[in-house]
Amino acid sequence: MQPEEIILTTADYIKEKFAGEGSGHDWWHIYRVWQNALYLAKNEQADLLVVQLGALLHDVADWKFYGGDETVGEKMAREYLEKLQVPELVIAPVCQIINEISFKGAGVNTPMSTLEGAIVQDADRLDAIGAIGIARAFAYGGFKHREMHNPNILPENHTSFAAYKKNTGPTINHFYEKLLLLKDRMNTATGRQLAEDRHQYMLNFLEQFYQEWNINVELEK
Ligand code: ADP
Ligand code: NI
Repeated sequence: MQPEEIILTTADYIKEKFAGEGSGHDWWHIYRVWQNALYLAKNEQADLLVVQLGALLHDVADWKFYGGDETVGEKMAREYLEKLQVPELVIAPVCQIINEISFKGAGVNTPMSTLEGAIVQDADRLDAIGAIGIARAFAYGGFKHREMHNPNILPENHTSFAAYKKNTGPTINHFYEKLLLLKDRMNTATGRQLAEDRHQYMLNFLEQFYQEWNINVELEK
């Protein structure tokens, strides 16, 4: 198979697997990460086949029904790519990306060990911020039956630490726990630049959100 055919076949396979996912990992998330990754790769000397396969397969470990086993994504990707007779020279770095990207231990900033991985991670992070990031956060919150915002559970002071620890707090808190931290964790120059814009958009959103939330207070003044 030619690289182009491998990519399109994999895209079809993933599209079918992720159809109807409701937690923020639907096909369109994968599609955007794929396109973001291609965009970022333009300014880097990266292997485009590894970047694209890494992007398309980066969330396979999140197929909820395989829960638990952290290496499951990597294994499934390997099995799949071997069937397509993709050379080991490509399979190994793709699996490494999947493995490194799915490690989400203790909120640490996971370093990627290859340029291709750095690009896929940036592409994934870009999709978690900005207008799309906001939409995904609230979609995820709804999926988990969470409140949008609760002034009694403030992100800053973690009044409800138990809720925070279990990551069950209002969706607004997720901005402070994760989304607003991402711009400083970008790997590539282009990624950093795009993140800057999207970050500012989230700050504007939050400001407007609190303004609307407190409209009664404002009117009473
Ligand atoms: P990915 O694997 O694509 O990096 P995650 O699995 O961490 O992303 O989350 C998927 C989407 O759901 C992201 O947009 C993320 O911001 C959002 N999300 C994850 N946890 C929460 C949460 N506690 N509250 C709101 N949104 C969340
Ligand atoms: Ni993702």
